[in-house]
Amino acid sequence: MSGRLRGNPVAPTSRWMAAARARESGREDRLFYDPLAADLAGPEGFAWLDRMETASRPGGPGLYAVIRTRFFDDFLLDACERSGVRQVVLAAAGMDTRAFRLDWPPQTRFFEMDLPEVLEAKDRVIESSGIEERCGRRTVAVDLEKEDWPEALLASGYDAQRPSAWLVEGLVLYLGGADVRGLLGKIGALATSGSLLGLDVMNRNLLLSPGAWPQMAALARRGARGRFGTNDPEALLAHHGWTADVTQPGEEGANFGRWAGPVFPRRLPGLPRSFLVRARRSGAPEPSR
Ligand SMILES: C[S@@+](CC[C@H](N)C(=O)[O-])C[C@H]1O[C@@H](n2cnc3c(N)ncnc32)[C@H](O)[C@@H]1O
Repeated sequence: MSGRLRGNPVAPTSRWMAAARARESGREDRLFYDPLAADLAGPEGFAWLDRMETASRPGGPGLYAVIRTRFFDDFLLDACERSGVRQVVLAAAGMDTRAFRLDWPPQTRFFEMDLPEVLEAKDRVIESSGIEERCGRRTVAVDLEKEDWPEALLASGYDAQRPSAWLVEGLVLYLGGADVRGLLGKIGALATSGSLLGLDVMNRNLLLSPGAWPQMAALARRGARGRFGTNDPEALLAHHGWTADVTQPGEEGANFGRWAGPVFPRRLPGLPRSFLVRARRSGAPEPSR
């Protein structure tokens, strides 16, 4: 494992997530097994995991990352098995190893987009592990806050005429609203009818909640400020041409016998929440407001 990830301050959060997956992989009742996670996390990832757990309630962000991982494992495999999709795109793939640990149908193309420094560090670990990918994996080094990433994705073999499954996991929290809308607009332009989109997002109340404040402050001190949240993920997705099915961690389909905390119905206003979103391409986007 090389030294710290430098450049974009959000880049090291990729190792934090890998550390959470490494720890989960050591449990008897694990929800997935990620043999690469410990090496991908490295000392930087485990230090982040420790600091963030110190700054939050027990089982907080680590368990959220675990539930989210399994939820979107199931979502992506389902997209391929039941909807016949053969193109998967991870926006902000980080240290994700789904290309290596899940069973993909033959001919699945798997695109991983992230910052160059993240993908380089990741590929060094993967190469030295000798573990083989289980799909046609392609990495696309881009800055998703810049204009030109769709060209890079298309140049790497993505076919915008064929349905695709997208995953935007662990990213939008760190972006400004204009960048989130820009990203969703570009994804929409690349996703034909029959495409699917997974995304996780916090609500505004969570960003402002006293309970989340210590963790938000710890992130901000590292330059990875929590910026974007929405109380209405259905409307956000609808605006960009997607029909969203929204699940809260702990609800049916996102519990896995592990989420012990209460889950409050959406009709109760003013509470901090996180959302796991599965969306289907529903048609043309609404005109920009
Ligand atoms: C919390 S990690 C999530 C990674 C992965 N999806 C996961 O769940 O493990 C956030 C990721 O967003 C990436 N990221 C942040 N800003 C980015 C940008 N402007 N362009 C590309 N990737 C970015 C970081 O490099 C990091 O890998």
